[in-house]
Amino acid sequence: MCGIVGVIGKAPAAPLLLEALRRLEYRGYDSAGIATLVDGHIERRRAEGKLGNLAGVLERDALPGTTGIGHTRWATHGAPTERNAHPHSTARVSVVHNGIIENHAELRAELEAKGAVFETETDTETFVRLVDDFLRQGHEPQAAFAAALRRVHGAFALAAIFSGHPRLLLAARQGAPLAVGFGEGEMFVGSDALALAPLTRRIAYLKEGDWVAVDGEGARFFDAAHQPAERRVTVTAVSGAAVGKGNYRHFMEKELHEHPAVLGDTLRQYLDPKTLEVRLPRLPFDPARIGRLTISACGSAFLAGMVGRYWIEQLARLPVDADVASEFRYRNPPLADGGAAILISQSGETADNMAALRLLREAGQRVLSVVNVPESSMARESDGALLTVAGPEIGVASTKAFTAQLAVLACLAIGFGRARRELSTLDEGRLAQTLLEVPSHAAAILEQDAQIRELAMEVAKARDVLFLGRGAMYPIALEGALKLKEISYIHAEGYAAGEMKHGPIALIDSDVPVIALCPSGPLFEKTASNLQEAAARGGRVMAFTDAEGEAALRRFAERVIVLPRIGEFATPILYAIPVQLLAYHVAVLKGTDVDQPRNLAKSVTVE
Ligand code: M6R
Repeated sequence: MCGIVGVIGKAPAAPLLLEALRRLEYRGYDSAGIATLVDGHIERRRAEGKLGNLAGVLERDALPGTTGIGHTRWATHGAPTERNAHPHSTARVSVVHNGIIENHAELRAELEAKGAVFETETDTETFVRLVDDFLRQGHEPQAAFAAALRRVHGAFALAAIFSGHPRLLLAARQGAPLAVGFGEGEMFVGSDALALAPLTRRIAYLKEGDWVAVDGEGARFFDAAHQPAERRVTVTAVSGAAVGKGNYRHFMEKELHEHPAVLGDTLRQYLDPKTLEVRLPRLPFDPARIGRLTISACGSAFLAGMVGRYWIEQLARLPVDADVASEFRYRNPPLADGGAAILISQSGETADNMAALRLLREAGQRVLSVVNVPESSMARESDGALLTVAGPEIGVASTKAFTAQLAVLACLAIGFGRARRELSTLDEGRLAQTLLEVPSHAAAILEQDAQIRELAMEVAKARDVLFLGRGAMYPIALEGALKLKEISYIHAEGYAAGEMKHGPIALIDSDVPVIALCPSGPLFEKTASNLQEAAARGGRVMAFTDAEGEAALRRFAERVIVLPRIGEFATPILYAIPVQLLAYHVAVLKGTDVDQPRNLAKSVTVE
């Protein structure tokens, strides 16, 4: 899950590459590097760690040249060291790579047998040495690159520059996205339009299996069969403006505080506040005519999908299978003809979910994606897309994108319920009204920041934390645990409250905070009983509830945080906010890198 970029420019390439890499750092921050052609020869600068380190290297040791490639790395093969940092080069060719070359071991053995000496443990170097071998045999760069592409398997995007060819850049896409940008006498390639947006808005996307030869004036595209192909140039809507933190310490904090606006914007997109009707655009399937629905997603987006399953099953009486994409894609799921699926993703680039998308479409399913990035691969390749109006989410931990996904799924559940005649107009109006109250309640929750920070002080001392919830609160318990793990590095688990006594209750002692998501409603009594069982065994129960649930929980809970009361339907959206805020405060107290936690990347483009 690396970011790649390339420039054939008029001005020095390194500053442009660095700026584009800043916009790609969400893909990985283990190391970064740039190579350019200087007097026809390849030169490079690389640094371990975040992009700032590479910027420092370039300040001390500038890199001239107007043609170059750049890379920001999320390590897959080989430790995140400077030696393994891209670009990987020989005297003839330099390459940046996103993805995995799966047959690298076999190719490496073959090349070593021919005398090649490898310098790194990366899979990328096999491609470099393969191209180099073809160049050594006398092939021109294009022929060498194409021949090497025929030998590699896996999912990747690649870009290469060649010694002695100052206005040539070759790039390829197979399973990982790649965009070509058209400037005025300048050309660019990049992992996405976001990276290229400050440089040009005129973008062409490579299709699966494509490769492209770029010079200073334009691009020649070739399809998977190596035949010349036409690819449409479109004007991207992605903004070239830098996204800042404003007055917040971290992007995550800023993004948490954007919840009310994002929820308002997303709901307005699909809900008419005057008529209290859900207004969905034309969907790629008719919800009244399907017998089953598949939901596939990863991480927090999957947890949104789990909530979606509760809602859609309840309101539309439509059976839903929700699965993580990495399992779904390999379990050979039986899919009925004419079936339908919803894919959920902030980035719209997550590799496992992209694979699920292709599998679903090959199986004749109609796929609707719920995505935050309108020009993402998922949005482009699905049969239809509903956008979450969350704006750019920079913090690795998903916050506002998650609640925006919930808002879209809530609207879909209502829309499906109406289409399947399971919901009356009255019910629809009541549920819509509940949703419309969410943004102002979200704002009220953010004002409880100090209380949540106090709770965070307790949680920050723990080694293990349990989050409990029932019904649609169960996925929110999982979200609380996921968020805490990923940014504070405290071990946390989310459980269905009723499942505790089947094993996890053995973990309870006075050192383990039990964080309960327990709004009043039909499941309140059951959850409260499970919490009492935990308290009776010395567990330290800390509960989120509303005014109606407060008194009952105060009898045994160490802390109770009273959240605004809202119709049961919308509680998952609201209760997600304090658990995310809690994780944020714990991470700040622990002094971790909140926006770029260790080992992670914002967009997971390898499987
Ligand atoms: O871009 P996506 O929504 O497809 O990403 C899915 C997950 O990688 C993502 O939600 C991840 O779990 C977050 N870091 C959670 O905060």
